[in-house]
Amino acid sequence: MGWNSWNSFANIVNSQIVQQQAQTLASNGMKKAGYEYVVIDEGWWLGKRDGAGNFVVDAKQWPAIRPGEKDGDMANIAAYIHSLGLKAGIYTDAGIDGCSMYPDSGPKYLNTGSEGHYDQDFLQFSKWGFDYVKVDWCGGAKNKRSGAVQYAQIAHAIQKAEKTTGRKLYFSICEWGSQNPWFWAPGVGEIESTIWRTGGDIIPPVVESLHDAEHDKRVITAANVLESFDNGLHPEAQHTGYYNDLDMMVMGMRGMTDALDRTHMGLWALSSAPLMVGSDLTRLSPATLSLLTNEEALAIHNDAYGLQPIKVDEPAAGVQIWAKPMAIAGRRAVVVLNRTDASAQVNIDWKKLGLKGSPKSLRDVWNKQDLASVDATVSVPAHDLVLVVVDGEDAAPAEYAAHETSITGIQAPFRASFAQLHYANTTGHIVVLRMKSMSGLSTAIALPPTAGSEAGTVGLILPKGTAELLFEGQGAAIRKLDVFAW
Ligand code: GLA
Repeated sequence: MGWNSWNSFANIVNSQIVQQQAQTLASNGMKKAGYEYVVIDEGWWLGKRDGAGNFVVDAKQWPAIRPGEKDGDMANIAAYIHSLGLKAGIYTDAGIDGCSMYPDSGPKYLNTGSEGHYDQDFLQFSKWGFDYVKVDWCGGAKNKRSGAVQYAQIAHAIQKAEKTTGRKLYFSICEWGSQNPWFWAPGVGEIESTIWRTGGDIIPPVVESLHDAEHDKRVITAANVLESFDNGLHPEAQHTGYYNDLDMMVMGMRGMTDALDRTHMGLWALSSAPLMVGSDLTRLSPATLSLLTNEEALAIHNDAYGLQPIKVDEPAAGVQIWAKPMAIAGRRAVVVLNRTDASAQVNIDWKKLGLKGSPKSLRDVWNKQDLASVDATVSVPAHDLVLVVVDGEDAAPAEYAAHETSITGIQAPFRASFAQLHYANTTGHIVVLRMKSMSGLSTAIALPPTAGSEAGTVGLILPKGTAELLFEGQGAAIRKLDVFAW
């Protein structure tokens, strides 16, 4: 959760803008709600290196902020962000050229990527004090590189840098889904946690201060938001620590209405997608800010299993019911999404959510109130979204015992299904398992440490059909898998 400079500032980003946005994030309630990263995207560096291959940045764009600092040192802005109790993020490209060869405004710049300098660049980011790095794919695509290969090398460079500085550098992969990153990005280069972009940009940047014809015509529509959500669904790849990235958010930006803001927030929270807000935070309306900081929506987003939702029903074309399995037994977050021009009355069939009988309670997240009855009829205005937390009793799962290195014959007969893996990991650190299935599932699962004889659980979503899980890697004992057929 955090802020990213690209959507609203593109390549005009500079120290003053980042300071102002960071101050706003720290004081408008967002930091308190859990937003913590301030990420500087493309435009901070124009491809210049010194004789030793070190980055050279514009000293006016990144001046000293506090006494004793040098102009042109990126450590200044990282220290400033840290002084507000926030974490700092930066950006590069996996290839030789970055995206600056197709500039959003201003001239072209070549050589804005890190290929050939991975160890040096990621160590430099970490030494400057950055905690997060987004790695784009313009140069990789231009030179027809393999994403799996380049991003594994980068993961190794990051791990080396972390060892040297002792500072965690969170890895954000931005390959736009072009080489199916959901198959290789979870655990790439043995990394314990990562996010990967699943599609192209939600919209080209909308820089309000530029007033040029190109930026003035950019207006966000419902299609931009819905397409990013639809493209981003790869639920079998997403587990604790590994997340599909639906792109930076455009809440409150040009074209967004209250209903579209609700739709955007609801779908990103339901998907446990990174909430990297790309808006100009100084211009957020009270309504947008209250959606971004809605604790009940954020609790859904931050659920320990971090799963994506399953589409359980589409009672009329464009009227959809999505349910996200949560770590608390019998709990689901449910979205009723109305993509149509007319309001809809929707009746929810609780059986399709894997519940035994009617739920015990229903909670309306936007209005922060319990619904008086557990009547299953929900009204949703045109192009809007209702978000409800449902508590009930899970129908009994099918139990699969684990053999030494596999669980076989797993059935998800009707549709993608929620499953819970029980394990013990007494190594004291995260163990990353590779899991493969006959039905095409190939992913990694990060197993957090467990204490003593207690079992831990992680959630997963199995693809429809028959699966077999083969574990490679050691250090954790897999006990069993419970499959809840919805
Ligand atoms: C790509 C990425 C965007 C942004 C721009 C910067 O388009 O997908 O998120 O980083 O590059 O040029």
